[in-house]
Amino acid sequence: MRFGGVTALSGVSFGVRPGEVCGLIGPNGAGKTTLFDCVSRLTRPQEGTITYAGQDLLALPTHRVAALGVARTFQHLGLVPSLSVRDNVMLGAQHGSRAGFAASALRLPFVRAGERALRARADAVLERLELTRVAARPAAGLPYGTLKRIELARALAAEPTLLLLDEPASGLAHGEVDELAGLIETVRGDATVVLVEHHMGMVMRLSDTVVVLDFGKVIATGTPAEVREDPAVLAAYLGTAA
Ligand SMILES: Nc1ncnc2c1ncn2[C@@H]1O[C@H](COP(=O)(O)OP(=O)(O)OP(=O)(O)O)[C@@H](O)[C@H]1O
Ligand SMILES: [Mg+2]
Repeated sequence: MRFGGVTALSGVSFGVRPGEVCGLIGPNGAGKTTLFDCVSRLTRPQEGTITYAGQDLLALPTHRVAALGVARTFQHLGLVPSLSVRDNVMLGAQHGSRAGFAASALRLPFVRAGERALRARADAVLERLELTRVAARPAAGLPYGTLKRIELARALAAEPTLLLLDEPASGLAHGEVDELAGLIETVRGDATVVLVEHHMGMVMRLSDTVVVLDFGKVIATGTPAEVREDPAVLAAYLGTAA
């Protein structure tokens, strides 16, 4: 993946097994978010392949990627501030809805039934993430920790089979990080998770495997214990030559 003269990802190759939590770590600018952008098709790499559930993702139109069950959170939050918390979460649930724009605008009966189902799904996720209390409030003005949880709720409402989490713990207080880790534990089993995080304790606790990126290349792959001891990884984080 190149942006003009910048090569953001180069020769990156790894697999994630169904049902596992894969930690994706690396220093700032390593290419972690760009990799998510490629998988969720916010951007398109000039070369390479991305396969999910036997399908070549790069051959599909973007909306089909979401329909396959790929959902993500955004490092800098993908919420609409003026919308209520519930509506933000319903937007996340929407990809499964079959109603077209015209049918939605006319509010045909099957659309209303679909909306009720979306709302029920959103409300279940809000409850699970202890957000019911703020469901009717606009997202704007809520504390950052709450916004991070809404961002996660939005992704979970899509009932993903592949969940890409981009720094879900950043900016959270200590206790909130523990709660979040517990929550991700409960998602395991429903979805395969790729977890981008700088919070090493959380990555090491949750991940079955860890992939380490540095300057757009994979420099290590292994279990948390293996990666933690890897000289190239230590060097990358210390900013010295390996
Ligand atoms: N849209 C873009 N245009 C130009 N360069 C970009 C773009 N997106 C990313 N880059 C560059 O690609 C590289 C990887 O950035 P990326 O945001 O993926 O890193 P990251 O690993 O997510 O870092 P962080 O931990 O700080 O979030 C950086 O050099 C960045 O400047
Ligand atoms: Mg990033």
